[in-house]
Amino acid sequence: MKKRVAAFCSHGGSNFAAIADAAARGEIPIEVAVMVHNNARAGAKQKAQARGIPTEWIPRKTFADETAYTQRLMQVLDRYGIDIVALAGFMQLVPSELLRRYEGKVTNIHPALLPLFGGRGFYGMKVHEAVFASGMKVSGPTVHLVDEQYDHGPILMQRAIAIDDCKCPEEIASLVLAEEHKIYPETLGLLAQGRFQVNGRRAFINVLS
Ligand code: GAR
Repeated sequence: MKKRVAAFCSHGGSNFAAIADAAARGEIPIEVAVMVHNNARAGAKQKAQARGIPTEWIPRKTFADETAYTQRLMQVLDRYGIDIVALAGFMQLVPSELLRRYEGKVTNIHPALLPLFGGRGFYGMKVHEAVFASGMKVSGPTVHLVDEQYDHGPILMQRAIAIDDCKCPEEIASLVLAEEHKIYPETLGLLAQGRFQVNGRRAFINVLS
């Protein structure tokens, strides 16, 4: 049985599109049921419309308080019968109540090898600029479960790629993004099949018997 996924986006939505396309091709047992965005101009909106995926614009700043914001998000997740929430370039903390209700079912992708180059202020190109300046020879995406801190929950999947030859942060970004588009659908497929076992900060992939 397919798990129903809500993608939360703030920007271009290339990860959202990669997930939706892998699902539509039948490569992973999920259906992207809705795309929630907090930015009216998010490119993810056009990508959702082009794929016939409903969109919901829920900007935090239009709600009087966290409770009202949380209620609205929960209503939408209930309405679409959501099992998994996949943050895909979503630049907003997720309310604690939602995280409690969807414990172990809220994922995020970060464009660096956490716990390096993560946390508040590390997003988008800022991450790749810091990696480039550090002189690291490898970088790569991390998919992790979400907790109440930025880029902090248990790591589900991570892939290191060589960046020795990169001449600028943009080159790193493009190599890492290509890998993000593979690793995020794969991880969601495994999560949908209940294949992760989380023990503290360590997540293991169960071998199918
Ligand atoms: C992606 O590179 C994602 O890893 C990053 O934002 C980009 C969104 O691109 N997320 C973060 O930096 C979170 N800390 P997309 O909208 O094209 O998927």
